[in-house]
Amino acid sequence: MSERKQFRAIKGTRDILPPDSALWNWFEHSAHEVFESYNFGEIRLPVFESTELFARSVGTETDIVSKEMFTFSLSQGFKNDRQTHDESEPGELVSLRPEATASVCRAYIEHNMQALPGNQKLYYIGTMFRRERPQKGRYRQFYQIGAEVLGQSDAPAIDAEVLEMLLVFFNRVGLTRTTLYVNSIGDKTCRPQYVELLREELRKVKDKLKEDSLRRIETNPLRVLDSKIPEEQPIIETLPRISDHLCDDCRAHFAKLKEELNLRRIEYKENWRLVRGLDYYTRTTFEVTAEGLGSQNAVCGGGRYDGLVELLGGPPTKGIGFAIGTDRSILSIEESGNVPKLGGLAVYIAWMGQASYPTAVNIARKLRAAGLSIELPPEEMKFKKALGLADKLGARYAVIIGEDEVASGTFTLKRLADGDQKKLAEGELLEYLESERRR
Ligand code: HAM
Repeated sequence: MSERKQFRAIKGTRDILPPDSALWNWFEHSAHEVFESYNFGEIRLPVFESTELFARSVGTETDIVSKEMFTFSLSQGFKNDRQTHDESEPGELVSLRPEATASVCRAYIEHNMQALPGNQKLYYIGTMFRRERPQKGRYRQFYQIGAEVLGQSDAPAIDAEVLEMLLVFFNRVGLTRTTLYVNSIGDKTCRPQYVELLREELRKVKDKLKEDSLRRIETNPLRVLDSKIPEEQPIIETLPRISDHLCDDCRAHFAKLKEELNLRRIEYKENWRLVRGLDYYTRTTFEVTAEGLGSQNAVCGGGRYDGLVELLGGPPTKGIGFAIGTDRSILSIEESGNVPKLGGLAVYIAWMGQASYPTAVNIARKLRAAGLSIELPPEEMKFKKALGLADKLGARYAVIIGEDEVASGTFTLKRLADGDQKKLAEGELLEYLESERRR
C-alpha cells in the first residue's frame, strides 16, 4: 500500500492558529480604530491584478517585479476550466499582488475618485505575495496593513499626519521600541542628475563592488545605497548624498516636513541611504524598524509617489502612504513580552444529568448574548473531568448545573483561580458575570 501523503503548508506560507489569531485580530482591529479616527476609509482590493500594473508601478528592474511575483496566465491557468475566458484579453498575465499601492491607484482611476470631495484617504488590510527566500520575519505570503492619501495636494502636513497616524497606531499596540527613519529622494527635476552623478562615482569604484551592486550601477544606482554587504559600506559612505543635490522645491518640502514632524513631537532620524525597493517614490521616503527581529527588522515602509496615478493613465495626482508588515510587528510585540491579555474563555458550563441539559443550553445562550465566551460541553461528563477540562481550557469560571441546582432554580458559580464558590439565581448570575466582563 502506498504511503498516504502528509500535506504541509507550502514553504513560505503558514497557519495562524488560536490563540495567536486573537492577537492578530486585535492588532487589525486597532488599525481600524486608529485609522478611522483620522478619517480614513477601508478599501478592499482583489488579490490578483494584471502583471503589467505591478511592472509599471513598482518597476521592471526591481527585485519584486523581476524575481518575486507569482504570475500566471488567465487563459491557460486552469486545466479543468471549460468556460470561455474573457476573450477581450486572451492570455493576459496576472500576478498575486506583491503590494497594494498599485491596486489603490488603479482603483482610484477606475472609480474616478478624483471627482470626490477632498483627499481620498484609504486603508487596506490583507495578504501580499512575494517569492522571497523565507526566513524569520520574511514569508512568501505575508500580511500588510496599509494606508494611502491621494489627491491634488502634496502639502508636507499630509506626510506628517500620515506618520503621526502610523506612530499613534504603533503606540496603541505597544510597538514602542521602534525607530522612524526619513529621507527625501528628490523628484523628476533633481533626481535624474543625482542618479547620473551617483552612477559616475560608482563606475570609479567598480572593482570594489559585488555582483548585485555592479549590475545596479547601470539598472538602478540608487539601490546600491541599500546594500547590506559589509565590504561595500565604507565605499558607500564616500558617495555623494541626495540631500546635497535636491532642487529648491524638494529641499523646501523636506524642510517643511521636518518642521511638521517637530510640531507633532515625532522623533525621527534622517537616513540619506533610505531609497526603498520600489520605483514609484518621489521626495519623502520613510521606514520604521523595530527591535528583536534580526535582519528583517523593517516593520513599515512608505513614502510619496506623486505621478504614479498619471503613469497608470489617470489624472495628475499626488500620493503618499505606507504599509505595515503585520507578521513582523506581531513578532516584535511577542518578543518584547508586551502581549495584551485578550478575551479567552470566560465560562465553562459543567452540567450533569440529562435533566439539567435544557437549563445548560438555555443559560449558555443567555450568557453568550451578554457577550461572554462560553464553552458548553456537547456530552455529559463526570464532574471531576468537566472541571479538569475547564481548567485546561483556561476558563475563568465554571457554572455548575446538577440536579440540586435544577430543583432549586439556582446555579453554582465557581471561580477557577481560587475555587471560590457561590449559589446564584439566574438574574444574579447574569448580572455578576456581565459586571466581571466589563472589569
Ligand atoms: P515594502 O517596504 O515593500 O513597501 O513593504 C512594507 C512592509 O511589509 C515591510 O516593511 C515589511 O514589514 C513587510 N514585508 C515586506 N515583504 C515581506 C515579506 N516577504 N514577509 C513579511 N513581511 C514583509 C510596500 O509594500 C509599499 N506598498 C508601501 C507603501 C504604501 N508605499 C506607499 N504606500
